[in-house]
Amino acid sequence: MTYRIVFLALGLLLAANVHAAGNAAAGAEKSKPCQACHGADGNGIGNPKYPILAGQYPDYMAQALKSYRSGERVNVIMQGMAAPLSDQDIADLTAYFGSQKSKLTDLARGCRNPTAQAANSP
Ligand code: HEC
Repeated sequence: MTYRIVFLALGLLLAANVHAAGNAAAGAEKSKPCQACHGADGNGIGNPKYPILAGQYPDYMAQALKSYRSGERVNVIMQGMAAPLSDQDIADLTAYFGSQKSKLTDLARGCRNPTAQAANSP
């Protein structure tokens, strides 16, 4: 009896830890509202205010989106964008943007923010 309860508890713990699997095709569809700022393929729109998402780790982006959604990470635009997203939406969106080929070749050249570039140069 005790064993059964322990196994049941373990099973529930494991189930709770399973991440929603992202579907990149569904993410492409859901990414339409994101494209105005992040670009159709997540490579941005040439404005350094909007981060490039293409090729970024899905886990990192999911963490960022959940932080915006909870209000832990503060940005007026992205908190508004993340508020209606479900965990499945986040998994799909990050699968899509993460699977796109990034146009960043290295961080120094990819960085188009002159202030950050100056701070990073020797
Ligand atoms: C109106 C412009 C705009 C739209 C639309 C928009 N974003 Fe953003 N996004 C931004 C800005 C600006 C930032 C940087 C905010 C900050 O400094 O925290 C950002 C940051 C992010 C980040 C964090 C990037 C990082 O490197 O930390 C992710 C992930 C992201 N957006 C995903 C999305 C997704 C998914 C959508 C669509 C549901 C979306 N964004 C729609 C402007 C936008």
